[in-house]
Amino acid sequence: MYGRTITWVLGTLLMGAAFAQDGDLEIFSWWAGDEGPALEALIELYEQQYPDVEVVNATVTGGAGVNARAVLKTRMLGGDPPDSFQVHAGQELIGTWVAAERMEDLTAMFEEQGWQEALPPEVIEAVSSGDGTWSVPVNIHRSNVLWFVPDDLEEWGVEVPSSWDEFVNETCPTLQEQGVTPLVVGENWTVQHLWESVALAELGVQGWQDLWSGDLAFTAPEAMAVWDRMGEILECTNEDAAGLSWQQATDRVVEGDAAFNVMGDWAAGYMTTTLGLEAGDGFDWAASPGTEGQFMWLADSFGLPVGAPSADNARAWLELIGSVEGQNAFNPLKGSIPPRLDVEVTEEHYDAYQLSAAEDWQGNERVGSLVHGVTAPEGFMSEFAAVTEIYLNSGSAEEAAGAADEVAAQVGIGR
Ligand code: GAL
Repeated sequence: MYGRTITWVLGTLLMGAAFAQDGDLEIFSWWAGDEGPALEALIELYEQQYPDVEVVNATVTGGAGVNARAVLKTRMLGGDPPDSFQVHAGQELIGTWVAAERMEDLTAMFEEQGWQEALPPEVIEAVSSGDGTWSVPVNIHRSNVLWFVPDDLEEWGVEVPSSWDEFVNETCPTLQEQGVTPLVVGENWTVQHLWESVALAELGVQGWQDLWSGDLAFTAPEAMAVWDRMGEILECTNEDAAGLSWQQATDRVVEGDAAFNVMGDWAAGYMTTTLGLEAGDGFDWAASPGTEGQFMWLADSFGLPVGAPSADNARAWLELIGSVEGQNAFNPLKGSIPPRLDVEVTEEHYDAYQLSAAEDWQGNERVGSLVHGVTAPEGFMSEFAAVTEIYLNSGSAEEAAGAADEVAAQVGIGR
């Protein structure tokens, strides 16, 4: 008798659950093509758990989300939000979508799932404002990484430079004499990416933070000196940068055409997952010159936009990406580490690069990335492309610094 009642109750509950989770789930991101495998692993897990939901994997290709963000803006402003979208933790989320009241508050989910305790305070802070908690972080990426192939360096007779000074004055000429590109860069945003590593090296942690609080003006001599340093470094780069994606720039290192590349550790994911190399064997890494002991971080996250057509399916998605299982499905393929404090980064799931990144994340000084959404409002981020272009065209530190200062004033940095 009891047995039957229990079966009936369970059956009804299960039917209810299945009933609640059908229809579509549209996930919007820039993880297209060879950036896709980690996201696809998460989607697969979701489809196993919710077989009646049709997942629409909507991607707009383009590194660092340069194209996806523009499409997202049009959709959001046009009243056509996806069910969940990729957004960097930090100002990219808070200064844009939260400020415009376009996100649902996830505080209750964070409490139910125990994420307030499971995530580092700094990461929680980056997805929260005074009024709520707004997205679920799925990873921690590192921006300031120098990539190379050790056997190639040996053949060319160079060592990993520990400062930009050493790179410019010793490493670069030795490589150029042999017809090797010392440092490969790609399209505009990858130059900005290089800039943030150079700025961290030249300004130090305090100086970097002062730029974003407004205590250090972009036109101050130290900040201008970053552009001068960039000028010297760019003399050591390839001439066809504008036409290269970040993957193609990475390929140049892997193929032995270039010695070094400064890129976030999604490059590790690309080299292992897509190219099939082994971390620590086929390629190696170091903190970008002058930033040893510093970890410039960023986190990809997903949120729930106001008016999402399938909000319940999106909530189930968010619960999955915040779970131990979800983070262990995604991160090993992505080159990133899980933000959860209770997920151990061990050889069971992670490679040699990720083990070292996890150790550095614990032991290093942390600063937020500009190019990947943490430190500055999106208005600054997107205009920084124009600032970089001004520098690339004019070679003038003064013009670039002046333009950056104007943008900072427009978006209210330090004002
Ligand atoms: C970053 C993002 C990474 C990776 C990279 C290259 O902004 O956080 O996950 O996708 O862009 O596209």
